[in-house]
Amino acid sequence: MGFAGPEALLEIIRKKQDLQGYRERHWTGGFADYVEIVLQNPKVARNGYQRLYDMILSHGVAEYTRHHEKYAHYHIFDDPVDGGRDAVFGLDPPLMRLVNNVKSAAFGYGTEKRILLLHGPVGSSKSTIARILKKGTEVYSTTKEGALYTYGWRPDFTGTGQDGVQWCPMHEEPLHLVPLEAQETIYAEINRRTDPRGYRIVPTGNLCPFCRKIYQDLMTQYDGNWERLTRHIVVRRLILSEKDRVGIGTFQPKDEKNQDSTELTGDLNYRKIAEYGTDSDPRAFNFDGELNIANRGIIEFIEILKLDVAFLYDLLGASQEHKIKPKKFPQTDIDEVIVGHTNEPEYKKLQNNELMEAFRDRTVKIDIPYNTVWKEEVKIYGRDFNDRQITGKHIAPHTIEMSAMWAVLTRLEEPKKAQITLVQKMKLYAGKTLPGFTEDNVKELREEAPREGMEGISPRYIQDKISNALVRDDTGSCVNPFMVLNELEAGLSHHSLITREEIRKRYRELLTMVKQEYEDVVKNEVQKAISADEEAIARLCGNYVDNIKAYTFHEKVRNKFTGQEDDPDERLMRSIEEKIDISESRKDDFRREVMNYIAALALEGKQFDYKTNERLQKALELKLFEDQKDSIKLTSLVSSVVDKDTQEKIDIVKGRLIKNYAYCDVCATDILNYVASIFARGDSKQR
Ligand SMILES: Nc1ncnc2c1ncn2[C@@H]1O[C@H](COP(=O)(O)OP(=O)(O)O)[C@@H](O)[C@H]1O
Ligand SMILES: [Mg+2]
Ligand SMILES: [Zn+2]
Ligand SMILES: [Zn+2]
Repeated sequence: MGFAGPEALLEIIRKKQDLQGYRERHWTGGFADYVEIVLQNPKVARNGYQRLYDMILSHGVAEYTRHHEKYAHYHIFDDPVDGGRDAVFGLDPPLMRLVNNVKSAAFGYGTEKRILLLHGPVGSSKSTIARILKKGTEVYSTTKEGALYTYGWRPDFTGTGQDGVQWCPMHEEPLHLVPLEAQETIYAEINRRTDPRGYRIVPTGNLCPFCRKIYQDLMTQYDGNWERLTRHIVVRRLILSEKDRVGIGTFQPKDEKNQDSTELTGDLNYRKIAEYGTDSDPRAFNFDGELNIANRGIIEFIEILKLDVAFLYDLLGASQEHKIKPKKFPQTDIDEVIVGHTNEPEYKKLQNNELMEAFRDRTVKIDIPYNTVWKEEVKIYGRDFNDRQITGKHIAPHTIEMSAMWAVLTRLEEPKKAQITLVQKMKLYAGKTLPGFTEDNVKELREEAPREGMEGISPRYIQDKISNALVRDDTGSCVNPFMVLNELEAGLSHHSLITREEIRKRYRELLTMVKQEYEDVVKNEVQKAISADEEAIARLCGNYVDNIKAYTFHEKVRNKFTGQEDDPDERLMRSIEEKIDISESRKDDFRREVMNYIAALALEGKQFDYKTNERLQKALELKLFEDQKDSIKLTSLVSSVVDKDTQEKIDIVKGRLIKNYAYCDVCATDILNYVASIFARGDSKQR
């Protein structure tokens, strides 16, 4: 018999762990067992807000400083539960506000009596955020740290299994069974065992109508002996699950005439009324309204302002009192987080409605704007449109970036005081630096536009248009930025949310700006690809250094070709220096600087490498590009037939674009043609 290898051992451990977890999740016990659990780990008795807060923290938080402000990034919003599929990007400030409100609710500072209202423009990820909270709550309930319990009634206390157990229909907290007179003492005892800096564990209410009925019947039967009553109690772990309608609810109002309170608070079970003889017997009632089933967890109200006014008031009551009123039954306690969301247009429509006054009072409104950080916007589209998700089509470099740039630009306000363009402001927000701009300036820019992000183009629009461009037959095997930008432009004329012509016009202008930016980017890339010939640059550099040396020491330069002694080539030196804006009056200084540096290196026995001097490298690259641009006759690409020699050079450049910049053959050819056409146009703009 051999020994088990490490793999086999690990496998055994893994299986055991699962088994352990399984046992924990399926634990059942008596009431006394539960009290023991609570005393050991008081957190099992926390309320919905407290559990939500702990769930969020359990995924960790990263603190950071940006533009002299402190921020926190809560990892739960990276959607760890689903491998990032629902990750929210660039919204740390509003998400911090959301978490702070959950925290204050957990500590019982009043927020727990309000509806958390996510408010923002269409497609700003409000539903996504609610989904993350719901999924997180579900998964947390399956973990050791997130454990919670509920109970049922055994028909006779001699039994053991779960046969015939009637589970509390609202899966309430077993501590509800503690008689009122004893509650204070019990909770004091529980809180003695919690961290004094944390929140207090508080009672979450009394028995639901169903359990109250059984409780009273048993009390009568046992002549008021509570001890004997508890022998009927079976406690079990409660696993929250939206699919099973346990602890996680979602409510979407249908059209206004069709709303019925039973959808929220449950309904009579007509078949059972006959059995129990009366419609006020809780056993003849289905406690399956959305607010009932979401007890202990979280409920999401989609388009909450579409709720019929009467229900809206009920709901406001539910959040304020933590009580609901099922038909024919007294008020019933609930313990759940209520999150609603509404679109900005919907909210505005009701602004002057008197209902809104009450509503505003009883909700915590958290604005969820669109993201305004360019590179975060890129992540939104990069998640869906990448090599892994898209097969059969290539997405040309910068396609996603340019689409994202436009999306962000539509959301920004024109800078008021500062002497910068909108595009520059966008880049500052994206973390780029701009000469003369400090972090404080960026902070000021943000502060002068507090509503920024509440208007503009939604990510959904961009996602749809990129998809359109991808499925179009006439886009060939590669989709490039122009195709998407054109798609974005075409869609503007029938965009349902753009109601004013001037906005349409502005969005079109912004598209032009983006195309301009794109032009600069590809020109730069082609330039780099053409001048990526290191040998040629090194040669040019050697030539330049020979000349400035001769110039500095008033010597001659030996012409390698003719063997003659020539004067330093002033034209060559200047043509390089001009590329980095060194003026005639500054040229001597610059040349001396370079010479000093080379001399210092020589003393250490080192050789000069142009790559160590960023400015000189740039100057050399630009000069080489200028020379080569003509020699490979880029411009000839646009019109005439290309000769063999030129074609070879072009293929080398294309190869570099593919290798270094992720182009495919199609888009590499496209941008070479495009850049060629820019030069053919005689565009002399230098960057
Ligand atoms: N800041 C963001 N980060 C990640 N994805 C986002 C962001 N904003 C919007 N989205 C994406 O846009 C789409 C619309 O989001 P959704 O949650 O339905 O918006 P809402 O409920 O606010 O209308 C989703 O695909 C979502 O992933
Ligand atoms: Mg939504
Ligand atoms: Zn109950
Ligand atoms: Zn391509």
